[in-house]
Amino acid sequence: MSSSTPVDPTGTAAFAALQTHHAEVRPDLRAWFAADPQRAERFTFDAADLHVDLSKNLVTEETVRLLLQLAEETRVADRLAAMFAGEHINTTEDRAVLHTALRRPAGTTPALTVDGQDVDTDVQAELTKMYAFAEKVRSGEWTGVTGKRIETVVNIGIGGSDLGPVMVYEALQPYVQEGLSCRFVSNIDPTDVAEKTRGLDPETTLFIVASKTFGTLETLTNARLARTWLWERLSAAGALADDDEARRGAVAKHFVAVSTALDKVEAFGIDPANAFGFWDWVGGRYSVDSTIGTSLAIAVGPERFTEFLAGFHAIDEHTRTTPFERNVPVLMGLLNVFYVNVVGAHTHAVLPYAQYLHRFPAYLQQLTMESNGKSVRWDGSPVTHETGEVFWGEPGTNGQHAFYQLIHQGTRIIPADFIAVATPAHPLVDGDGGDADVHALFMANYFAQTKALAFGKTAEEVRAEGTAEEIVPARVFSGNRPTTSILAPALTPSVVGQLIALYEHITFVQGAVWGIDSFDQWGVELGKKLALEIAPALTGDADALADQDPSTGALIRHYLQRRAT
Ligand code: F6P
Repeated sequence: MSSSTPVDPTGTAAFAALQTHHAEVRPDLRAWFAADPQRAERFTFDAADLHVDLSKNLVTEETVRLLLQLAEETRVADRLAAMFAGEHINTTEDRAVLHTALRRPAGTTPALTVDGQDVDTDVQAELTKMYAFAEKVRSGEWTGVTGKRIETVVNIGIGGSDLGPVMVYEALQPYVQEGLSCRFVSNIDPTDVAEKTRGLDPETTLFIVASKTFGTLETLTNARLARTWLWERLSAAGALADDDEARRGAVAKHFVAVSTALDKVEAFGIDPANAFGFWDWVGGRYSVDSTIGTSLAIAVGPERFTEFLAGFHAIDEHTRTTPFERNVPVLMGLLNVFYVNVVGAHTHAVLPYAQYLHRFPAYLQQLTMESNGKSVRWDGSPVTHETGEVFWGEPGTNGQHAFYQLIHQGTRIIPADFIAVATPAHPLVDGDGGDADVHALFMANYFAQTKALAFGKTAEEVRAEGTAEEIVPARVFSGNRPTTSILAPALTPSVVGQLIALYEHITFVQGAVWGIDSFDQWGVELGKKLALEIAPALTGDADALADQDPSTGALIRHYLQRRAT
């Protein structure tokens, strides 16, 4: 059945029942756990290596039953099947949405053919090409123009062409080859290129220009700055003759590109032989597992990159084949819908208790908010309810000493996902602390926080500690603050892939219930267009300056007056 007609979720019988149910059932996690010794077990599920405890959420079995009914009435299963099959569910761009095809293992049957394209063959061919290049860089066979091996890879990209690679690079630090490192340039603020090239040796630096469209102002500007930096530094070192052929030769050895627009790559001066492709059915924020991950394939190697892809695929298979009652991304997506549309939550915290995941919340901000920050459905009709919540977070325990106060005792309900791994990369022992296992201490915080949020502390408990009566209210914790605990064995390439795929599918489920196109991003277009229109006003075009609205015009004049020349 086609999923082309969105259903208004608020018009469903399930939604009306959920609202009534929510009005009648006051959340009481203390009482719910006391009354049901099986609650933790009943609400805990495994998806590949991810052990996910949903029991500290503000739901009963009836809530979950109604949410599953909501999924049925909004035809989430049809839309999921349509995505995996390559239907054009990205309606506003008339495209298939096939990031799941990027991680299908070689030889998967039946083969996937979409719009006449043999998707599996093309994906494998591009992976093979990327892996061969990565091996050459890792082994030292690929050298810079002066014959030195590459030591630093600088990825130039923004949005999905940056956030995924940088997040995964940080997450997989223990797997990065000795003697190789990556840097990531994204911001058009020239400070970014200046800082990221600081201290680099041009002879051992490789730039990867990563841009799906190869038309993004920030990336192309930064790529030109990097190219100039390369030429100037090589010349200064006496390693570059002063002619175009020599300059082209330097670009050929120090620049590669990743894009769906290989013609534009060539126009920039990068040899198409040094370019890796992908396809328009991969959204930018869903592309870290495509050749956009070339920096990662170099840093951790093809074998680890293959494990990374296998992690995604394991969650894809879980999502595709597990009944919704036990389907982790589906249940988590439905819980998010419940919090946004029934409980009235506006934000969602993601709190990794793993330092290597410190960029994961930033990565999720693009994935979730660029996907589900929409006010119209995929057929253009306006939504009649809230959609994408604000995702945010910081690694624990840093967040505990910053914003957890508001999660514990503020007036807002903030559902929070706590993510941890059982085996740390660095199992250090604090000799001065009585041989304390530091990771265990860290994990004690992970467990303590969700416990405190769920069960709180009553006035009686506070009084029993001898607290002065006037201080009691300030020291009461209401509890019933919803959390999900996700525990993985270790931060392996596979687990990182699993975590990304988990959130991709959670995002998908929310978008499917809301009837929105989670795969376009028209909202970022207007600002980009206006920046191009405003730019001349900053460089002496009086007419362009006169065309501005009073506020923008005055701000530009102020900037021009203050700018040091
Ligand atoms: O922010 C808009 C956007 O189109 C993102 O979706 C994308 O990840 C980013 O810009 C970068 O685009 P590109 O990879 O085409 O340079």
